Parts: sequence; structure tokens; C-alpha cells
Amino acid sequence: MSVDTAKPDLAPDDLPPATLLVCLTCRQAGVPPTSDDQRPGAVLMQALAVRDLPAGVRLRGVECLSNCSRGCTVALSGAGRWSYVIGTVDPAQHVDALLEGVALYQASADGIVPWRARPEIIRKGVIARIPAMEV
Ligand code: FES
Repeated sequence: MSVDTAKPDLAPDDLPPATLLVCLTCRQAGVPPTSDDQRPGAVLMQALAVRDLPAGVRLRGVECLSNCSRGCTVALSGAGRWSYVIGTVDPAQHVDALLEGVALYQASADGIVPWRARPEIIRKGVIARIPAMEV
């Protein structure tokens, strides 16, 4: 039995929105505990919230993505797309690269960004990927 996973070519404006989920409660290895609003996950969220997100991308804070030992953690999801959990994101170093990867993800109909096109934090930081849940 073969499965056709091909997607028709879609213009970027025709693609459904993608969501960047940010764990607000993440800590980072080697970073001492701080107050809740200064946890590295919250700091990452604050850094992303003041940036221009790629068109069609929503930002959402969540509490714990079950990747606590490899924070900061984010996840990418979108209708019809693979979802990704990404760890070891450093708010002081990776915001630009993360947004670059998010833009590539939003521009792909199936959520699969070619390996070589992925920024390093996404190539090295992916913890898990989950296929799209077709309804
Ligand atoms: S606290 Fe961030 S993944 Fe658990």
C-alpha cells in the first residue's frame, strides 16, 4: 500500500497559521534559579514578544513541554504540518535563528524544512517530531 503525502503547491498566504509555543517555566542548565518572571523560558518569551514574527505565525506561552532537562524548550505546530519540540534554546543567543527557522516552517505546507536550510539551533535542538493529525 502506498501513501501519497504530496501537497499541492500553495502560496504563502494560503497556508494555515503556525504556532510557536514557548515554555515559560523552563530553566537552563548552568543558569541558577531565579524568580518566575526571570526564568529563562519567560525571558525567551519576552524576547520573542517584542520581535516582528513571520507572517502567519502566532506566539503562545505554555507551562512545561516535558523537556525540562534540556530547556529552554519551544514547539512548532500548524494544521497539516509535522510538529516539532526543540530544546536547548538560549534566549541570549538563539532568538534570531529561531525566528528564521519559524519563518521557514510557516512557509512549508507540511512543516518539513530541508535539513541544510534549518538554522543550527533547530538542526541540533530537535527533541521530537510528530506527524500531522489529519482529520
Ligand atoms: S519546564 Fe520547560 S519543558 Fe518543563
